Amino acid sequence: MANQAKLEIVGGRPLQGTITVSAAKNAALPLLAAALLTEEEVVFDNLPRIKDVEAMLEVIQQVGGTIRELEDGRWAISGRNLDASREVPNELVRKIRASNLLLGPLLARCGMAHLSMPGGCSIGSRQMDQHIKGFRALGCQDIAISGGYIKAHGPLPLQGTVIHLDVASVGATENIMMAATLAAGTTVIRNAAKEPEIVDLQNLLNKMGAHIRGAGTDVIKIEGVKKLKGTSHSIIPDRIEAGTHLVAGVITNGQLTVKNIIPEHVEAVTAKLMEMGVKLEIGDDYITVFPHDWQLKAVDIRTQPYPGFPTDMQAQFMALLTLVPGISLITENIFEARFNQVPELNRLGASIKTENGTAFIKGVAKLTGAEVSATDLRAAAALALAGLAAEGKTIVENIQHLERGYEAFVEKYCQVGAQMRRITGS
Ligand code: EPU
Repeated sequence: MANQAKLEIVGGRPLQGTITVSAAKNAALPLLAAALLTEEEVVFDNLPRIKDVEAMLEVIQQVGGTIRELEDGRWAISGRNLDASREVPNELVRKIRASNLLLGPLLARCGMAHLSMPGGCSIGSRQMDQHIKGFRALGCQDIAISGGYIKAHGPLPLQGTVIHLDVASVGATENIMMAATLAAGTTVIRNAAKEPEIVDLQNLLNKMGAHIRGAGTDVIKIEGVKKLKGTSHSIIPDRIEAGTHLVAGVITNGQLTVKNIIPEHVEAVTAKLMEMGVKLEIGDDYITVFPHDWQLKAVDIRTQPYPGFPTDMQAQFMALLTLVPGISLITENIFEARFNQVPELNRLGASIKTENGTAFIKGVAKLTGAEVSATDLRAAAALALAGLAAEGKTIVENIQHLERGYEAFVEKYCQVGAQMRRITGS
């Protein structure tokens, strides 16, 4: 679209100083859904101000949830008037894929759910079969997808069961965990996803009175309870935002401290940076990257579920590897179409080819500013990082993708010396 917001970046300035990570998008979205499991208020201390959270709050209101911004910037969410029969407009569900995380709470509380099916997106087809398999196992035999909607009816309470996931899906694990909190008896999820966001969800649910163990491992046990209660919660820092900033420090050859980090959550990223020859200092809740006057080394990356290298950091690393001598390989194993950034990076002077899910990146001496277009959140971040390193001016179009997941992106980078501004108009 001609008049979407753009980012203008004048590259070539090393980032210097300290940048603070916001709360995790991919934790916030399931946690907001989880708040609907109780009639009482769940208060979030640090909801990130990003478009995906705004859209999720809209969907929550559509299904009868109430939201209140408290004077100190905290948010209170309650599922007191939850009403699964209210239809959520298709356009809204399309805005926020994670609205599928409402299925679990709606089924647990209301015994029914009726939501538009999020379609595929620019990174892949994004199946829902494991979510549906989980709900069926919990007793919702009546699940149909028709006319683009998913309609599910189940008993109240749902019935505890054993579910063996075929794919360790993050969203399916979260949905099943939430649905099972109020089920009769015990539910066991095998081959569960192990992401830190799932541990944060367990922590919130247990504070609400659930009985869950095992999040962070591949077996999660949920003993159902009759009712959950309100509580308050601080969301974990965003490990992907943190990783993005670390790469920004390295690609500009700056000295950048990234604060509010859980170093263990970004180990796959820091290990890869060290393998490339980057000098890092890892503290309790910060990591500093230091400038290098030596050549970094080409590396190979395979994306994997946590604790493997995250798919959500693949595009940003690709931007960095375009400037590293030698040939680096990136294999994307999680999403089938997550190399959208490749032609755009090539417009900036990179040399990248893809074949069968693997990108071959031949390091070049420099990138040169150009107009490029973002197609998804992480591709947008990768293009912004490439722009920070490129000679001259880069314009990144369609930064609404970036704003879905990064809080105050421009402000944070300008504070550490980037020359970057958001522009609107055609
Ligand atoms: N999959 C299935 N069946 C299912 C569910 C998933 O085959 O029922 C497949 C998907 O098609 C995909 C793979 O399993 O190929 C992984 O999907 P998963 O369900 O684990 O991902 P998600 O829950 O939809 C979350 C994050 C993504 C992140 C992935 C993988 C949220 C809101 N989103 O998505 O975040 O890439 O896990 O780590 O938590 C992003 O932040 O940029 C982003 C896309």
